[in-house]
Amino acid sequence: MPTIARLTALEILDSRGRPTVRATCTLASGASGTASVPSGASTGSAEVLELRDGDPARYGGLGCRTAVRHVAEDLHLALAGQPFDQAGLDRAMVALDGTPNKARLGANAILGVSLAFARAAATEAGVPLYRYFADLAGVPLATLPRLTINLFSGGKHAGGQVPIQDVLLVPVAARTIDEGLAATYAVYQAAAELTARKYGTRALTADEGGLAPPFPDAEAMLADAVAAIEAAGLAPGSGVALAVDVAASHFHREGRYHLGGDPLDSAGMIDRLAGWRASYPIVSIEDGLAEDDWANWPTLRARLGDDTLVLGDDFLCTNPARIRRAIDAGAASALLLKVNQIGTLSEAAEARALARDAGWHVTVSARSGETEDDWLADLAVGWGGQQIKVGSITQSERLAKYNRLLAIEAETGLPVVTWPEE
Ligand code: PGA
Ligand code: ZN
Repeated sequence: MPTIARLTALEILDSRGRPTVRATCTLASGASGTASVPSGASTGSAEVLELRDGDPARYGGLGCRTAVRHVAEDLHLALAGQPFDQAGLDRAMVALDGTPNKARLGANAILGVSLAFARAAATEAGVPLYRYFADLAGVPLATLPRLTINLFSGGKHAGGQVPIQDVLLVPVAARTIDEGLAATYAVYQAAAELTARKYGTRALTADEGGLAPPFPDAEAMLADAVAAIEAAGLAPGSGVALAVDVAASHFHREGRYHLGGDPLDSAGMIDRLAGWRASYPIVSIEDGLAEDDWANWPTLRARLGDDTLVLGDDFLCTNPARIRRAIDAGAASALLLKVNQIGTLSEAAEARALARDAGWHVTVSARSGETEDDWLADLAVGWGGQQIKVGSITQSERLAKYNRLLAIEAETGLPVVTWPEE
């Protein structure tokens, strides 16, 4: 087992210019690994705690110097000199933290170390990171994830000009990452022209690089996406399909969904989603209901059937207890996996295994605040994710992951998951 010799960390800036943690783990063998932690804006309330300094005079309180100190002092002193495997290290950090939501040491400190150790251990073993992740989860390396790429943005990522958060392109006909990206580029260019003409705005983009013109409503976002696919000479549905991140928690107040027009109750919201599914080529609907609307998620799943993924992000928060409850209730059919929602690789692996054992699909996802680090691509491949969600193709913190997928594709020759697989 690798022995940790030294843990260090640095406060760096994410794609929104906000501080985050970059951790480095050096092993006794001399091998070392560095990893950076992402950060969400459209967060679920069951996420573990991202520790911020709270000093209003510095980055509006968002500084990460305390979390950095927790890596370089507390975690270093407690863990250096000892041999660990990934599960043992993650368990030790959870125990050292001692809180249910990683509030003492900070999930950003803990995840930085969990990831940096993974990189160092992969280097020590002489294997690519995706293979280390595959071995960790006991998953055969067989496929690459299908791309789901942000085209249009709204909600918390775009100043709320329209309530729903993302309309994504799913290049279903593409057999390779390379083809999927080329198709996405064509649609993105067509969409930029179409929206500039229609809304008279320049190609303004949101946090994840999606186009964010002043759509009058969610239906316009969906219709414009279909029009852009057609304008690019591709077939909506069979060539390029759509996915939607409704992020419904963020427009749900006092039991009503404020989607524009009259507020909807849960049944009305489910009707609206089923209507979108009938009118547009949608293969996946994320957070179609609010994170605490437990009673109605099973109806949503039943209404959308097996041909549309009912994907839980804020609803599940990569949290094994929430996932178990949702499986028992028949409340979803897919997990959106964000490692920093739970704070260690081992707990995220448990979340993945629960979802897969229940026959669910897994979408491995970035956050809206990202860095140039590319470990997410290795994770999505290593854990056999059916889909990956990274954002658009216009910003380098996203492209780092797409470019890493291209490199993994060239190195392994693995095929992209076909739909429906299995
Ligand atoms: P984030 O949200 O801003 O919390 O990263 C992205 C998402 O909802 O999928
Ligand atoms: Zn989401």
